Amino acid sequence: SFPHPSLLFFFFFFLRGRKECCCEASPHLPAPKNVTVYSSNFRNSLRWSPVQVGGGSVSYTVQLKTGAYNHWSEINCTRIIQTECSFLQLAKARRWTIVLRVRAEMGPRTSAWVETDPFVAERNTTIGPPKVNSVTVSSDSLLISVAPPFGPEAGYLFQYHVSYWENTTITTKKEIKTSDTLFKIKDLKQLTLYCFTIRVELMTYLDFQLLGLQTVPECYRTTISEAAKAGYIVVIFMSVGLLLICIIAGFFCLWRHQKAIKYLSQPPLRIPSHIEEYLRDPSVPHLEVLENHDEDPQDSITVVYAGEGSSAYGDMLDGNTCSCSSSSGCDVT
Ligand SMILES: *[C@@H]1O[C@H](CO)[C@@H](O)[C@H](O)[C@H]1NC(C)=O
Ligand SMILES: *[C@@H]1O[C@H](CO)[C@@H](O)[C@H](O)[C@H]1NC(C)=O
Ligand SMILES: *[C@@H]1O[C@H](CO)[C@@H](O)[C@H](O)[C@H]1NC(C)=O
Ligand SMILES: *[C@@H]1O[C@H](CO)[C@@H](O)[C@H](O)[C@H]1NC(C)=O
Repeated sequence: SFPHPSLLFFFFFFLRGRKECCCEASPHLPAPKNVTVYSSNFRNSLRWSPVQVGGGSVSYTVQLKTGAYNHWSEINCTRIIQTECSFLQLAKARRWTIVLRVRAEMGPRTSAWVETDPFVAERNTTIGPPKVNSVTVSSDSLLISVAPPFGPEAGYLFQYHVSYWENTTITTKKEIKTSDTLFKIKDLKQLTLYCFTIRVELMTYLDFQLLGLQTVPECYRTTISEAAKAGYIVVIFMSVGLLLICIIAGFFCLWRHQKAIKYLSQPPLRIPSHIEEYLRDPSVPHLEVLENHDEDPQDSITVVYAGEGSSAYGDMLDGNTCSCSSSSGCDVT
């Protein structure tokens, strides 16, 4: 006897229903959020935001499958409490296409699985900046010693991309590429501030560039060149010599014109001592006081010098009338 078609139909639905029932089992728990793959220098981990529900602690299970073998497998992150799981650090797995999934669990209750994007370590990992070990400055170059961001590994070649520029307002960057860990930035100007950053490029078999992060810019001032130093020394010696010659010549001039200078540096009209004497004691005979024409006789005097001169002032004043007043100063007439 043949089963009724409707019975077959029913059986089919029954099976389908069971299947659905088995795989998406009671998604009572909220699924983990912000499920992200972090990978730095090939250290890979999956992280997610914790699921908050009342009535017990939530655990998580992570599964992994590769592009080659389409089967979910456990990776030592089954019913874990933490919200992070390290996975496949193996060097040979760096070119594999990996997909991960995570779900929350609490007793018999589970959440839906949350799947990641396909991850290929050699494409998705973040390579850190290299380490700058030392910088040796000279007048026209910087000698830089670097270390790769992670230990030397068979199968990988690092290329260093060095970007450098003069620290001025208009900065035009130049770049050099090298696979040596000790290299020179050449053809620099002396006494100039240069800055540089370095990043590595990981040479992989894949046909795209895996560029690492850049180092923080470092700036160094080039030194003065030997030729310029010699030039400066010559200039300094010459200036010092010239200065000495000037000073000596100056002293020589001073010595030669000593008398004239002495004369010039004296106040032009100092009342000679014998006049002063007379002013204190008008009874001295050889001086004759003329009548003052100014209003104030105390402040203004007019003298006629009649004695034999004993000094330059005497000669100058000899036979002349010298009138002094507080208002107009002194005149020799
Ligand atoms: C998920 O990440 C977003 C931003 O990236 C953040 O605002 C949000 O709080 C995160 N969710 C949880 C549950 O932590
Ligand atoms: C899981 O952990 C055990 C012991 O801690 C270790 O021997 C094993 O290799 C791990 N398996 C994976 C897939 O990491
Ligand atoms: C890996 O990189 C590819 C291409 O950039 C991107 O589409 C993919 O989402 C990345 N995978 C992960 C897990 O971030
Ligand atoms: C580089 O130049 C900028 C302005 O051009 C200045 O602010 C900065 O301090 C300089 N860097 C150094 C290390 O002197």
